[in-house]
Amino acid sequence: MITSILSTQDTQAVSAGADLIKAGGLVAFPTETVYGLGANGLDGAAVNRIFEAKGRPNDNPLILHVAEKEDAFPLWAAEPPFARKLMDTFWPGPLTLIYYRSDIVPDEVTAGLDTVAVRMPDNEAARALIAAAGVPVAAPSANLSGKPSPTTAAHVLQDMDGRIPLILDGGPCRYGVESTVLSLVGVPTILRPGAVTKEMLAAILGEVALAPSILQPLGAGEKAASPGMKYKHYAPNAQVLVVVGEAPAAAGRLSALYDECIAAGKRPYIAATAEALPFYDRRRCALLGTRQDPTTLCSRLFALLRELDEAADVILCEGVGTEGTGLAFMNRLLRSAGFRVEYL
Ligand code: TXA
Ligand code: MG
Repeated sequence: MITSILSTQDTQAVSAGADLIKAGGLVAFPTETVYGLGANGLDGAAVNRIFEAKGRPNDNPLILHVAEKEDAFPLWAAEPPFARKLMDTFWPGPLTLIYYRSDIVPDEVTAGLDTVAVRMPDNEAARALIAAAGVPVAAPSANLSGKPSPTTAAHVLQDMDGRIPLILDGGPCRYGVESTVLSLVGVPTILRPGAVTKEMLAAILGEVALAPSILQPLGAGEKAASPGMKYKHYAPNAQVLVVVGEAPAAAGRLSALYDECIAAGKRPYIAATAEALPFYDRRRCALLGTRQDPTTLCSRLFALLRELDEAADVILCEGVGTEGTGLAFMNRLLRSAGFRVEYL
């Protein structure tokens, strides 16, 4: 199959994408978080094609994307608690809401769970595509299962060339990490952190819990609140090692690890924050962003993991605190590192 790329500026692009979705096919499209791989979310056979193209385990459920707030409600069995307030505050935007599903949602989307995840993306082309398709669009991140999520159309092509007919290119994604996933069943619980932070949600919900698996691997026999958490994730081919500490100390430890790699004949690369960059001397470094604003670290992480994969076989990366969007950054980074982390 030939994979075409059309700019979202192209007037034909969105309608070509919508035609594919209506016909049961797949189309990759930009959102404000990462690129998604979309299909008709009410058609189980179309949804199965997503799992095939990604090589995704089919017990990992998908998010349904809607173009209007009102389109979310028919997908749930009842109005979720706090939903209107959350939607009015954060939609369109990087917040996914989970609640009991209605009968119209196929098992293929929920992987047999009794709940469904829904979000309204803050991207004009994405919403135009969903509206033109006329159905909720099921879409995971448009990477091969296990790889870092794509934040440009070129990343999607790396993973999906020959596997899907069309990529809509809307340029680089604004946030670069996937949406916050919030379950509204029982105590509101963040299953996956994102740009809508725990602090922002607590301001509305009061109490908000964090799934334990956000910063640690699942224990043996432990059940994942979100099935996606149990899989190897965001991993480049290179090995990723993380050191968490103040900038000068982290730079000192990472420099030592770098020198050990060189002595062992490996090709290391450092992913550094602006604050620590001056401490690495002449070692090979790539700038992630600033500790002052972890959102900058989030938006570069996946792209950097893909870029450094060519140049390095060990990626040595600084970790930061988990306040604000630091939590989303550390959640993705620790997974990409297979939880190989040192806290100084
Ligand atoms: O920003 C995003 O959310 C992107 C863009 C494309 O919208 N999508 C995305 O989808 O990240 P995906 O499939 O890569 O991640 C969805 C996560 C997975 O960890 C999955 O297990 C979880 O949400 N999930 C989906 N439905 C769920 C449910 N009913 N209960 C618990 N977890 C669920
Ligand atoms: Mg994903």
